[in-house]
Amino acid sequence: MFRVHQELDDKQETLVVGLFQQNSQLTGLLAELDEKLDGHLTQLMKDGDLSSKRKSIFTLHTLGLLKVKRIYFVGLGKEKELNFPKLREAFGKLFKTVQEAKVQELSIALDTFASSTVDVNEAAHGLAEAFALSTYKIHDYKQKSNEPEKKIETIDVFALNEDPVEVKSSLEVGYAFGQGTNSARTLTNMPPNLLTATELASYSIQLAEKHGFEYEILEKEEMERLGMGALLAVNKGSEEPPKMIVLKYQGKEEWTDVIGLVGKGITYDTGGYSIKPKDGIVGMKTDMGGAAAVLGAMEIIGEIKPEQNVVAVIPSTDNMISGGAFKPDDVIVSLSGKTIEVLNTDAEGRLALADGVTYAKHHGAQYLVDVATLTGGVVIALGNDMTGAMTNHEPLFEQVLQASHECEEPMWQLPITEKDKKRVRNSKMADLNNSPGREGHAIMAGAFIGEFAENTPWVHLDIAGTAVTSKESDLGPSGATGVMARTLATFVERFETIEK
Ligand code: BES
Ligand code: ZN
Ligand code: ZN
Repeated sequence: MFRVHQELDDKQETLVVGLFQQNSQLTGLLAELDEKLDGHLTQLMKDGDLSSKRKSIFTLHTLGLLKVKRIYFVGLGKEKELNFPKLREAFGKLFKTVQEAKVQELSIALDTFASSTVDVNEAAHGLAEAFALSTYKIHDYKQKSNEPEKKIETIDVFALNEDPVEVKSSLEVGYAFGQGTNSARTLTNMPPNLLTATELASYSIQLAEKHGFEYEILEKEEMERLGMGALLAVNKGSEEPPKMIVLKYQGKEEWTDVIGLVGKGITYDTGGYSIKPKDGIVGMKTDMGGAAAVLGAMEIIGEIKPEQNVVAVIPSTDNMISGGAFKPDDVIVSLSGKTIEVLNTDAEGRLALADGVTYAKHHGAQYLVDVATLTGGVVIALGNDMTGAMTNHEPLFEQVLQASHECEEPMWQLPITEKDKKRVRNSKMADLNNSPGREGHAIMAGAFIGEFAENTPWVHLDIAGTAVTSKESDLGPSGATGVMARTLATFVERFETIEK
């Protein structure tokens, strides 16, 4: 896929060059090309045809003047204003353009993309991540799309003054981040008749075997024995057996400072007896977006092998209706022993997560991050660009937030007050209720899960608004975004133990 070279010869067919806003004469490779092209580059810039505006792509056919057949110039704006996300987006635009032009081999002069703010290795990471993300195509089931497509096969990267081994490794890491996100997208886009809890478990086993993770898949009978009454309640209306999926990555000598990543794995959410309106049901195949993010992150972790310990826990089932389904008014006993009065069977995610969070603690998790397409409320509160975050531990949240900034997957914190906790604990019949009402209901869901995190530092991420997008972008098509796969992997990679 990627080949790194230290010398630029003129054997390339298609060359890609970054173009910053020029304050004076062209320098370096640009000056060389300009000279070989009899000053035409300078002229094109003067005429305004060749622009350094960020993300503008200009294709120059060299018409036999150079051995290189065509050069793509990628506008990067002001050198000092470039940062990693901006560069990654520019690369995304480039790869989309190049893919549409059916180019299969590409040579990139990487040095021309580096600046005082983004070094060559970061640029390599951005390039490879953007390549994976922007060329991602939804796996559909159309007969026509089975025809082979022309894809970019090889990318030759030229980094003249850098250690090629390091550049290659930056490219591979960037590509792993992109691929992990793409896997999360693919899982989330899958139709619910094909992606059942059983299928999600088989996928997880394959992932574990590929990366040498330890794994455990709990079957219904074991869940019954352990008393996972909350996940089991959600499963009661289903023909499909539930699965509790556990993957363990051990990057330290000892199994200490374990980070628990818990993902909501509801493969379809009809709402159950608190049934959703018919238009609200369509799209609920994406209700395992949290599980997909966790599995995407585990794929990245398996590639980059950080010195951390991680346990990934995915409670999985669909939420269906039948004579045996759970009902509003039921009282159930969770794995933690806490009892729950079910007021709304459509608030099923928090039930599955309650047992997921408790089970992560059984596996030694000392820090918890849960990810879930949990509430319509978070979409009303924050829209479709911001993930909603809640926590019982600000320093842990700071680390997650830092990672989210780095990956440009923005999140915004919502509070959980003592009064909110009281509303979740307000039940005549049980310790907790699963749906205290419409007011602030993204917070109610967070507060409910917090009851199971108890004193363990915990961050809750509600991705109901961000797991799917209706707009395509330079870094991917519309549909599932794979949001939080990269943030979680980055958080794990950079994690620093918090003194208690
Ligand atoms: N899976 C939904 C949340 C959701 C809504 C995800 C829209 C993606 C888009 C969740 O299980 C749910 O139904 N939540 C209810 C909670 C309510 C019953 C307290 C909601 O948000 O309406
Ligand atoms: Zn629901
Ligand atoms: Zn749901």
